[in-house]
Amino acid sequence: MKVTLSVIKADIGGWVGHSDSHPEVLAKAEEMMARAKKEGTLIDYHVTKCGDDAQLIMTHNHGEENELIHKLSWDTFLACTEVAKKLKLHGAGQDLLSDAFSGNVKGMGPGVAECEIEERGAESIIIFMADKTSSGAWNLPLYKIFADPFNTIGLVIAGNMHTGFAFEVHDVKEHKKVTFNCPEEIYDLLVFIGAPSRFCIKSVYHRDSGEIAAVSSTQKLSLMAGRYVGKDDPVCIVRAQGHFPAVGEVLEPFAHPFYVEGWMRGSHMGPLMPVSVPDATPSRFDGPPRVTSLGFQLAGGKLIGPKDMFDDISFENARAEANLMADIMRQHGPFEPHRLPLDEMEYTTMPQVVDKLKDRFEILED
Ligand code: 13P
Ligand code: 13P
Ligand code: MG
Ligand code: MG
Repeated sequence: MKVTLSVIKADIGGWVGHSDSHPEVLAKAEEMMARAKKEGTLIDYHVTKCGDDAQLIMTHNHGEENELIHKLSWDTFLACTEVAKKLKLHGAGQDLLSDAFSGNVKGMGPGVAECEIEERGAESIIIFMADKTSSGAWNLPLYKIFADPFNTIGLVIAGNMHTGFAFEVHDVKEHKKVTFNCPEEIYDLLVFIGAPSRFCIKSVYHRDSGEIAAVSSTQKLSLMAGRYVGKDDPVCIVRAQGHFPAVGEVLEPFAHPFYVEGWMRGSHMGPLMPVSVPDATPSRFDGPPRVTSLGFQLAGGKLIGPKDMFDDISFENARAEANLMADIMRQHGPFEPHRLPLDEMEYTTMPQVVDKLKDRFEILED
């Protein structure tokens, strides 16, 4: 049976500041999703949050980039924004960059990860959601999951994965894409994905079967808006077990935090801390950046779950390590490498300040 999994998210208002989502906003999303399920538009859904981002996890039979599903998501975010405005939440409607829906939410602010799949006998799915970071944050974990045998032993000892995976990489600034076949092209792949502010892994495919293994949201809010409105706070869908990596291999890259861009004012590097959904409340210096993961088994498109995968004591060391990494970065205050490099700051809050001071600069004589 073919089924489409759509994860569409937006920041429609923070409670308090940018730290969390308000239950009334999520209740509105739940109400809209329940109606769509009752009317038959959706097979199933799950509403959740990661920090101040509302997450719509939906299954249906309409395929990817479907107008009905995108319109439903857009209308849900609009209805949630009304609630956010009534409560005077911070940045109500923050990620909704336009007032007119034009068939697809891509380019309008929300983040989108979708895949149409042939549901397997047992279809294990992990959905990652992040707050206070950017699209591209999935580059390192997706590389580890699908190309690094030190992370995924299945690449070595499971015959059905031994041929490897293909990575589709998007150049989000030049609007181009390229595919790398791994393992033989891992060095070429790393040249690009090691620069995650520009090159993002969009999707991963099982090379023998051609099946989609993972898909992420690569929408860049600042590029869409032409100014800083908030971070992209991306999502990612990963299929697990069978001829895909096991659930434990999918979660393993998060056992050690790595630095991502985002955090305060979207302008800093900070560790990505794996947390349970209730702990996805970035508060210290508006962070540190968080990642949650929900596991589901699909059964005829029904979402059997969620299982909160980082709600596990085995990730406690990672959280402690992230706090230590956060302390070390914070000591740099406004200095790089805590603050983002200059070319990235151009997409955040710095241009206004630079513009104000431009007449003060004098040409050096020698
Ligand atoms: P089970 O025997 O519990 O299914 O585990 C197999 C496996 O592959 C674990 O990664
Ligand atoms: P969000 O992108 O999560 O809204 O955070 C914006 C911000 O500026 C945090 O300091
Ligand atoms: Mg926000
Ligand atoms: Mg956010």
